[in-house]
Amino acid sequence: MIEFKDVSFSYGENATKKQYSLLNANFKIGNGECVVFCGKSGCGKTTIMRLINGLIPTYYGGNIVGSINVDGYNPSEVKIQEISKIVGSVFQNPRSQFFNLNTTDEIGFGCENQGIKPQEILQRIDKTAKLLNITDLLGRNIFNLSGGEKQKIACASVCATMPNIYVLDEPSSNLDAKAIQDLRYIINILKKQGKTIVVA
Ligand SMILES: Nc1ncnc2c1ncn2[C@@H]1O[C@H](COP(=O)(O)OP(=O)(O)OP(=O)(O)O)[C@@H](O)[C@H]1O
Ligand SMILES: [Mg+2]
Repeated sequence: MIEFKDVSFSYGENATKKQYSLLNANFKIGNGECVVFCGKSGCGKTTIMRLINGLIPTYYGGNIVGSINVDGYNPSEVKIQEISKIVGSVFQNPRSQFFNLNTTDEIGFGCENQGIKPQEILQRIDKTAKLLNITDLLGRNIFNLSGGEKQKIACASVCATMPNIYVLDEPSSNLDAKAIQDLRYIINILKKQGKTIVVA
């Protein structure tokens, strides 16, 4: 469950009301819901995603007003390593979230950071690849993948950590029609698993 009550945010500490990137946002997203945020460029979609996944204030500082509840936690009050167990993020450009050269390593990387045992990580990689129908992408050099294939690896690496909530920031903006279809397939699987999905 995600709930924003009168949430405002400015990237600067001493911003005037006019300079707020988000002003008095109120909404509730129930467990298992898939919600799309749409609006013109600069209206604050990415800012909302960052408030949910804790990148604000851990990575992007500023002034937060109001109350945010993400599965019982306030992301700005818990450590990023805690909130990342609850919220998984896929960014617009998957390259910006890769740490490894090999696809299999990348899918297991989030799990490694959570200290999950190696045997369990191997099982999760296998299970995730089968679930998302990407076993043919295992063991590949990430640099040699297409944009759509990279996006699938980004989704898989999040999926392997088994978060309750997925935050996807314009995940289809670099993809062609076929790759968007494949992404839709993946989102559908996550939805069937009862995950909460937020898409900008
Ligand atoms: N790191 C940052 N530092 C300062 N201001 C920022 C930062 N990121 C975004 N902003 C400002 O916050 C406002 C909302 O930006 P945001 O990125 O949330 O919009 P968006 O709806 O995601 O736009 P787009 O559709 O172009 O991705 C904009 O005015 C933007 O200039
Ligand atoms: Mg954005």
